[in-house]
Amino acid sequence: MAPALPRLLATRRLPQEVETRLGAAYQAQFNADDHPMSEAEILEGAEGKDALLITSMDKGFATGIIAKLPPSVKIIATFSVGHEHVDIAAARSRNIAVTNTPDVLTNATADITLLLILGAARGASWGERMVRENRWDSWSLTEPLGYDVTGRRLGILGLGRIGQAVARRAQAFDMELHYHNRRPVAPDLALGARYHADLFDMLPYCDFLSINCASTPETRGIVNEKLIAKLPRGAIIVNSARGDIVDDDALIANLKSGRLAAAGLDVFRNEPKIDPRYRSLDNVFLLPHLGSATRDTRVDMGMRAADNLDAFFAGARPRDLLT
Ligand code: DGY
Repeated sequence: MAPALPRLLATRRLPQEVETRLGAAYQAQFNADDHPMSEAEILEGAEGKDALLITSMDKGFATGIIAKLPPSVKIIATFSVGHEHVDIAAARSRNIAVTNTPDVLTNATADITLLLILGAARGASWGERMVRENRWDSWSLTEPLGYDVTGRRLGILGLGRIGQAVARRAQAFDMELHYHNRRPVAPDLALGARYHADLFDMLPYCDFLSINCASTPETRGIVNEKLIAKLPRGAIIVNSARGDIVDDDALIANLKSGRLAAAGLDVFRNEPKIDPRYRSLDNVFLLPHLGSATRDTRVDMGMRAADNLDAFFAGARPRDLLT
């Protein structure tokens, strides 16, 4: 008799190709109507499952759900590169493997970062609203106006895979590149970007500050009043990493006062319930966490998660093991 297939719970609907693949190799429970599952529902669904395929929107994996998972669960695969929403230490202590999906979303996320830079600088939000709301009644030479991108200085907070892909794209705009990491990266990856061991030393060089670091205890809230005060007046901040890296009060106050010219945000603290004050600011360009939201990228992410699950259940070390 063939061995029973491993039992899997996927907390959100997956691209069709991925569900087809997982459906053939697992006794899979999918989320057909794609509703966000509550913690209680996840725990109920996890009963008797060997594997959970979760997303960064699933609440509770950083704050206690792992301790309550049934003993059948052996692996949690997150459909994301970011893994701040999973308590890795808690998983380790229960001998539950955790994997993520790096690499495959690097280009899509870097693309959206450039969209944020351009959208924030060039007023894409107010421009689009003006057209949609039929308020475009003449072509003014003097207002509203945006800000140049070409040839300006870009500071990248976190020159990892995504930060490097942002740097490659920014080169096409002749931007002067700066970066801050805990450690410098190899010169061929840095693309001539100037390394600043101290983040605060980089800030005066940032006409644009792009947040591309992971959310960790060290980076949470790091973009605060003190940091913003060191940026040149009229700087623009873009965030395609995680919302909790930014102190919303400080960012909003500086956008309101005009000390910051604009911001481009794809990620938010407590998303999708974002700070409502952002909605009324004209100088922010807002997107609903679209960094990895292309068809091909989402399929690639799902396949990468499936590769990790397959390796685990074949007794091999998953490529993206975090535990
Ligand atoms: C990621 O993969 O971390 C994206 O932000 C989606 O959660």
